[in-house]
Amino acid sequence: MPRLSRWFIRAALVNLAVGFTIGGLLLGHKAFPVHPLLWRLFPLHIELLLFGWTLQLIMGVGFWIFPRFWRSRGNERPAWLAFFLLNAGVWLAGLSPMLSLPPVLLTTGRLLELAAVAAFAVHAWPRIKPPGASGRGF
Ligand code: HEM
Repeated sequence: MPRLSRWFIRAALVNLAVGFTIGGLLLGHKAFPVHPLLWRLFPLHIELLLFGWTLQLIMGVGFWIFPRFWRSRGNERPAWLAFFLLNAGVWLAGLSPMLSLPPVLLTTGRLLELAAVAAFAVHAWPRIKPPGASGRGF
């Protein structure tokens, strides 16, 4: 498995662990209320599991298994950029409502996530091809 896929998938698993833990706390809190402030973790739960886990796992596995150009995976830089943008975006968008940071930071986090998707698409687009094709044209 390539290095970037290992980073994507390990980060995804960390997000899964943290996201599920928060989910479990919130679920428990519904039956046995602990403190109302616990609901502040809710946006982080959603962000970690929807984007930090699901989307990140997809990118990690996609980078690994999409068709290659002989042994090369093409231009890897946009895929690395996607990794950093996605993780920065997830934590920024997840933590800013929890810490009551200015709403512009939530928007920035979401824009970073969107930019991560765009960067990954730039990397993956030429790799969406039949096996053996050069990747140029359709
Ligand atoms: C991939 C897995 C998961 C994803 C993508 C996910 C995503 C979400 C989303 C989007 C919501 C908001 C739903 C809404 O407002 O209508 C939510 C709510 C919630 N989730 Fe998760 N979740 C996941 C797993 C879990 C797990 C494993 C637990 C518990 C152990 C959990 C506990 C909760 C709780 C307690 C709520 C609040 C429900 C309420 O509105 O009262 N989630 N989750």
